[in-house]
Amino acid sequence: MKLSFNVDHFASLRQARRANEPEPVLAALLAEQAGAAGITAHLRGDRRHINERDLRMIREAIKTKFTVEMAATAEMKAAATTVRPDVVCLVPEKPEELTTTGGLDVLAHRKTLKPHIQALTRAGIKVSIFVDPSLTQIRAIAELGVRKIEIHTGIYADAPFGPDREKALDEIRTAAAAAARLGLEVTGGHGLGYHNVGPIVAIPEMTELSIGFAIVARAAIVGVDRAVRDMVALLNPRRAR
Ligand code: PXP
Repeated sequence: MKLSFNVDHFASLRQARRANEPEPVLAALLAEQAGAAGITAHLRGDRRHINERDLRMIREAIKTKFTVEMAATAEMKAAATTVRPDVVCLVPEKPEELTTTGGLDVLAHRKTLKPHIQALTRAGIKVSIFVDPSLTQIRAIAELGVRKIEIHTGIYADAPFGPDREKALDEIRTAAAAAARLGLEVTGGHGLGYHNVGPIVAIPEMTELSIGFAIVARAAIVGVDRAVRDMVALLNPRRAR
């Protein structure tokens, strides 16, 4: 299972003091060295953490896959076609939210999404969509010609141990299997950490997980190298000693 390490919160720390450190690109390079298979960054409308300079620097510096999360707006399309990440993951965005709170409603926005996706594809960028574990949403994504999804794992991650957590996990399992049957590349993310990632790793259709906050939080204590290596080991249990 591949790890795409989300470096947003290095930028959050920098922006907390409007300072010029820490540089997310440096964390990205250290993470690659420690075994991350890709780097993710989220360019938000309010630029609360990552900005265009970060995207340019990460794009230039890393050797693995670069995914940029963004809303499906004209401004973000221009940023994507300038930076040309390998993948754009389309996410919904509410200005007041602390973090992304759910998947994109593809059914509701089908008409506007179609030309947006076509423009990104024409620019040579692979499109992924962040989606709740909903079969109707996943079918709508496949019908749009998108070949990759990131299943929202946040409900599972935030649920207390017990039936709610099991239900959320089952929904993710069912969604992953259905998406794979439709030929989609299945990834997951949001809210995952060292203590809850195991059951998601065990889902056979999952190929990659996008994880940020938990790794950045651990990196603040033990360093990026150790924090990423520990997560990579959890994502690849058979390879771990
Ligand atoms: N996937 C998406 C679409 C996200 O918006 C985020 C948060 O930026 C993540 C994954 C990573 O979530 P976390 O920081 O909770 O690991």
